[in-house]
Amino acid sequence: MAPDRVRRALPALLALLAALLPGPGDAQTSVFPSEVTLPRGGSTRVNCSAACAEPSKLGLETQLSKEEVAHGDNWKVFELSDVQEDSTLICFSDCESQSMASARLTVYATPDSVELAPLPPWQPVGEDLTLRCRVVGGQPRAQLSVLLLRGEEELSRQPALGEPAEVTATVQADRSDHGANFSCVTELDLRPLGLELFKNVSAPRQLQTFELPVTGPQLAATPAVVEVGAQCHVSCSLDGLFPAPEAQVQLELGGRKLDATVSHGKDAVSAMASVRGTAEEEGAQQVVCAVLLGNRRVEATAEVTVYSFPAPNLTLSEPEVSEGTEVVVQCEGHDGTRVTLDGTPAWPVSARAQLRLNASAEDNGRRFSCSAALDVAGQVLRKNQTRELRVLYGPRLDERDCLGNWTWQEGSQQTLRCEAWGNPRPELSCRREGTGAPLPIGELRPVQRQFAGTYLCRAVSSRGEVTREVFIHVLPYKHSNVVIIIVVAAVVLLGTWGTAAYVYNRQRKIKKYKLQKAQEAATVKLNTPQASPS
Ligand SMILES: *[C@@H]1O[C@H](CO)[C@@H](O)[C@H](O)[C@H]1NC(C)=O
Ligand SMILES: *[C@@H]1O[C@H](CO)[C@@H](O)[C@H](O)[C@H]1NC(C)=O
Ligand SMILES: *[C@@H]1O[C@H](CO)[C@@H](O)[C@H](O)[C@H]1NC(C)=O
Ligand SMILES: *[C@@H]1O[C@H](CO)[C@@H](O)[C@H](O)[C@H]1NC(C)=O
Ligand SMILES: *[C@@H]1O[C@H](CO)[C@@H](O)[C@H](O)[C@H]1NC(C)=O
Ligand SMILES: *[C@@H]1O[C@H](CO)[C@@H](O)[C@H](O)[C@H]1NC(C)=O
Ligand SMILES: *[C@@H]1O[C@H](CO)[C@@H](O)[C@H](O)[C@H]1NC(C)=O
Repeated sequence: MAPDRVRRALPALLALLAALLPGPGDAQTSVFPSEVTLPRGGSTRVNCSAACAEPSKLGLETQLSKEEVAHGDNWKVFELSDVQEDSTLICFSDCESQSMASARLTVYATPDSVELAPLPPWQPVGEDLTLRCRVVGGQPRAQLSVLLLRGEEELSRQPALGEPAEVTATVQADRSDHGANFSCVTELDLRPLGLELFKNVSAPRQLQTFELPVTGPQLAATPAVVEVGAQCHVSCSLDGLFPAPEAQVQLELGGRKLDATVSHGKDAVSAMASVRGTAEEEGAQQVVCAVLLGNRRVEATAEVTVYSFPAPNLTLSEPEVSEGTEVVVQCEGHDGTRVTLDGTPAWPVSARAQLRLNASAEDNGRRFSCSAALDVAGQVLRKNQTRELRVLYGPRLDERDCLGNWTWQEGSQQTLRCEAWGNPRPELSCRREGTGAPLPIGELRPVQRQFAGTYLCRAVSSRGEVTREVFIHVLPYKHSNVVIIIVVAAVVLLGTWGTAAYVYNRQRKIKKYKLQKAQEAATVKLNTPQASPS
């Protein structure tokens, strides 16, 4: 037999021998200790001894590397090193006959790796989550159990079976599991063998759970039609989602991403965007609101029609015309619109309408309106345009505006009206024939006799002038005339008499004075004969 073949067959042989060996008690050979538990790769010592004082043979049979470290007459101590696996040792001795004793070496080792399989990045609330733990190595397996934990809570405890051992547990994900750390722990319990409890923990894995209602978001305040260049608002909201802060909202119009302002509430999210319709987007467009959470997406869509609708053009052949001129009013809308000119819808239905008129003074300041109607997605939209016509006329000063004959009672309260018309506005002036005194237009209080007379009124504008005569008759007082005459006569008489008396008196005084002066002069002449010539 080749030595290596013997070596290979030896463990099995030793185990068989050990099983056949008689129990201790009357044993001739003994081994101490008979049970050893040691870490893998560790070393231990065994003492083989014989019952007789001087055995002819004493030794240890093992495939492990051994070294005799001490001995007595009937004993030997061997050191076994680098023990990698469980094995059986056999001590033998020969006293009168050969005998044997066996010892068991049990190797223990903590697992080489404990790993919790990756969790799904997002786990829907209410759905089953399977945790998987893989354990490589670790012995003795009978003493090794695998635990799955949520935080500190033990979810499952199972023996480690197979190599590698795989352990699974299923839990239903809850909102409270969001952010929870799951881990896998192995326990190698060697306490029954007088050793300790060895624990190994996997790297923790954090779970993210989410809830997204399948009903989808609500698209609100979206107008059905938007004019090119006009701004409209789009808003979208969704309730009952978890965790709301993690939710994303996207708003799109016709595939164009809108710049949305997103706000998160408790279990709710909403987004708002304002959008301007562009010419390229003219037509029916889809508005999409998508809410993304976890690995899922829900969306709502609505249709919006982008339209362009230029206001109709309203033109007057001339904005300012002379009275009696023909004016053409033209209302022109964009193709596809229906116009209404000055309240009259075009018939047959058309984007054009025309109106001809002979401008009269009454048409000055008249406003023409042109309204165009466009059908967009079932809605009738309108746009208007107005123009004002100015008619040049006048000046006009006729009986209606300036009465030719006024007859008033003297002293009564009257108002004199005279107005000239025209565009441009004429200037009016009225003067009395002869004196040129102005006509007292406006309130007269009271009417005086001197107002009576014939006046000539002239209305002048850039378009010419017209004149008109105005007569004012003032009827004098009837009853008080006699009294006035008497009073005036009396005053005149009294005045005349008074004046006469005064004049006579004064003449008399002057005569007397002159006489006196003459007498004085005569006296001086007598005293001074050579008077100077002054
Ligand atoms: C080995 O065992 C024998 C018999 O039990 C004993 O007499 C001896 O002292 C032991 N040797 C050692 C080193 O313990
Ligand atoms: C899970 O672990 C992470 C880091 O490892 C920690 O920040 C977090 O607080 C833990 N979560 C819980 C619920 O303990
Ligand atoms: C397992 O735990 C032991 C201590 O209990 C440690 O020495 C060993 O390195 C651990 N094994 C792994 C794979 O982490
Ligand atoms: C417009 O009306 C005026 C007065 O009614 C008339 O004299 C004139 O001929 C008319 N002009 C036209 C173009 O019909
Ligand atoms: C109105 O007039 C402008 C300028 O003449 C023109 O560009 C526009 O197309 C017209 N609009 C319609 C509705 O005809
Ligand atoms: C436009 O005109 C129509 C009638 O012609 C009127 O009902 C509507 O109110 C007007 N719209 C505007 C904005 O002026
Ligand atoms: C004004 O009345 C007088 C008589 O009262 C009449 O003779 C004259 O013709 C009238 N003038 C006008 C302009 O009506």
